[in-house]
Amino acid sequence: MKFFIDTANLDQIREAYGMGVLDGVTTNPSLMAKEGIKGVENQHRHYVDICNIVQGDVSAEVIATGYEGMIEEGEELAALNPHIVVKVPCIADGIKAVKYFSEKGIRTNCTLVFSVGQALLAAKAGATYVSPFVGRLDDICEDGVALVGKIVEMYRYYGYDTQVLAASIRHTAHIIRCIEAGADVATCPLAAIKGLLNHPLTDAGLMKFLEDYKRVNG
Ligand code: G3P
Repeated sequence: MKFFIDTANLDQIREAYGMGVLDGVTTNPSLMAKEGIKGVENQHRHYVDICNIVQGDVSAEVIATGYEGMIEEGEELAALNPHIVVKVPCIADGIKAVKYFSEKGIRTNCTLVFSVGQALLAAKAGATYVSPFVGRLDDICEDGVALVGKIVEMYRYYGYDTQVLAASIRHTAHIIRCIEAGADVATCPLAAIKGLLNHPLTDAGLMKFLEDYKRVNG
């Protein structure tokens, strides 16, 4: 299973990469805005900065919602760095754009996916990744992880290569449940990744080992 960090914050990306377990980064317009990155040139520079930290896939999202605009923007983004994956919303023009990019060998992440049907269209169009939003489904009392499991099952049944990238992960338990559901990738906040390390028996065991060592060795 691959781990991506879901942020545009360079310090957090550096910290996660430094842990030695990071495979990539996902961003979106809200995460870029959170870092105060304004203007296309600055945004492009920021994507390149991210790519220079992480030797892995970096999702950069198009803002256009029409086919022509998505193609123009996506081609510019893809030309920034070989690690860029063009992130496209799962709407009719987005699916057409995914098909275009896939035929040109440009990798894509089809985002804002909330149903098995959307995931099927993304895979048929040749998306590299599909991003079901786990937390946002949970927010409206649906089961986000269950959707991840259904997409994984459907892709296996029909033999699609598209990777299931569990997104809108809010906490560590989401990651664990997505692993159990068979997600290929989870994109997570830094705190949720760090949370995987927490276990009281690890802390207690380590303390006991050190106490025993000191008792004998002084
Ligand atoms: O990967 C998508 C993610 O950034 C959305 O997360 O917490 O805004 O639903 P959230």
